Amino acid sequence: MVGKMIGSSASPNGSFTSAMTLTEEELTCVPKRYILPPSLRPNGAEYNTCLPIVDLSYLQHPLLRPQIIQEVHLACKKFGFFQVVNHGIPISVMKDAIDAASEFFNLPTEEKRHLLSSNVHDPVRYGTSLNHVKDKVYFWRDFLKHYANPTSTWLDFWPSNPTDYKKKMGNYTVAAQKLQEELMEVIFESLELNSNYLHEDIAEGSQVMAVNCYPACPEPDLTLGLPPHTDYGMLTIILQNHLGLQIMDRDEKWHSVPLIEGALIVQLGDQMEVLSNGRYKSVLHRATVNSEKKRISIASLHSLALGKKVRPASELVNEQHILSYKEGSFSDFLDFISGEDIVEAKYIDKLKINS
Ligand code: OGA
Ligand code: NI
Repeated sequence: MVGKMIGSSASPNGSFTSAMTLTEEELTCVPKRYILPPSLRPNGAEYNTCLPIVDLSYLQHPLLRPQIIQEVHLACKKFGFFQVVNHGIPISVMKDAIDAASEFFNLPTEEKRHLLSSNVHDPVRYGTSLNHVKDKVYFWRDFLKHYANPTSTWLDFWPSNPTDYKKKMGNYTVAAQKLQEELMEVIFESLELNSNYLHEDIAEGSQVMAVNCYPACPEPDLTLGLPPHTDYGMLTIILQNHLGLQIMDRDEKWHSVPLIEGALIVQLGDQMEVLSNGRYKSVLHRATVNSEKKRISIASLHSLALGKKVRPASELVNEQHILSYKEGSFSDFLDFISGEDIVEAKYIDKLKINS
C-alpha cells in the first residue's frame, strides 16, 4: 500500500515536512506517501458555470426577497452549495485576509513549528495533510486552524508572525460571522422556519477558521489537497484566491467550482442536515491541486457552540417526514475524528436513524 511513510515525517513534530517545504525543493514528482490509489484520484470533474449564484443585495428589497429565498431553497436542496455576491464584505478585507494567510505559510518552518499540533482539541493548530501524525496517505495541503468567535476570546492564540495577521484575519472573521448570521436567517426562512430560529445560539456559535495552503504540485493528477468530505457544522463560508474546490451533486458527479471575483462560497454542513431533518443535505466536497500556483482558501466553519446539541427542528418532523437523525454536537464530532479515519468513516452516518 501507499500508506508507508518515507523519511521521518510521521514522527510527532520532530522532523515534520510541510507541503510548502516540498515545493521549495522543486521536486519533479510527488513523494510516494502522497500518491492516492487510482480510484481516489481527481479525474473526471466537470467545469460547471451553472452552479448557483445568489445576489444578496436583493434581500433588502421587499418585493425581490421572496425570489431570493426561493433561489436559496433550490440551491440548498439541489447542491447544499451556492456562491454569494454583493454580500457586504469589502474586497479589501478579503484580500487582506488572503495576504495574511499567504504570508504565514511563506514563513520558514521554524517560525511556525511552535503551533504544530495533531490534537484536534487544541485552540490553534498548524499542520499538513489532515493529521501529520495519523495519516496513512498524505494530502497536499498545509493548514492553520483556530477559533474566532468572539475574537476577544481567541485572538491571543493566533499567530503573532506575520505581525498584521491578527488585524487582517480578525477583520475578516468578524465580517464572516456577521454574514453567517444573515445567511442563517435566509436559510431558515427557506425551510419555512422563523428567521429568528436559534438566533442567540447562532450568534454565540463556534467559528473555526481553516486556513488552507495548497502549494503548486508537480503531479496534481495523483493526489488531492483534501479528500472528499462534508463539513461538520451548520454552514461554511469559503474565500479562495484560485480554482481547486470541487463539489459532488446528488447524481454523484463532481463539479469544479468557478472562481468569481469578489464572491464567497457557502456550503451546508452536517448540523444543517440534522436540523433540517434531511430536507437539506450537507455537500460532499474535495480540494484538487494544480501545478502552477499556490492556492489559499479560508474556510470559516460555523456550528453551534462546542457542547450544544443540534437536533431536527420539531417543525420539520411530522408524519411525512419522520425523525431521521439523532442529536449531535461539535464536541461529539471532535471525539469522533479523534478516534476514526475520516477518509473512511463519515460522522453524519453515525447520526442517521435507519428506518
Ligand atoms: C475545508 C475545505 C476546501 C478548500 O477546509 O473543510 O473543504 O477549497 N476546504 O480549501
Ligand atoms: Ni470542507
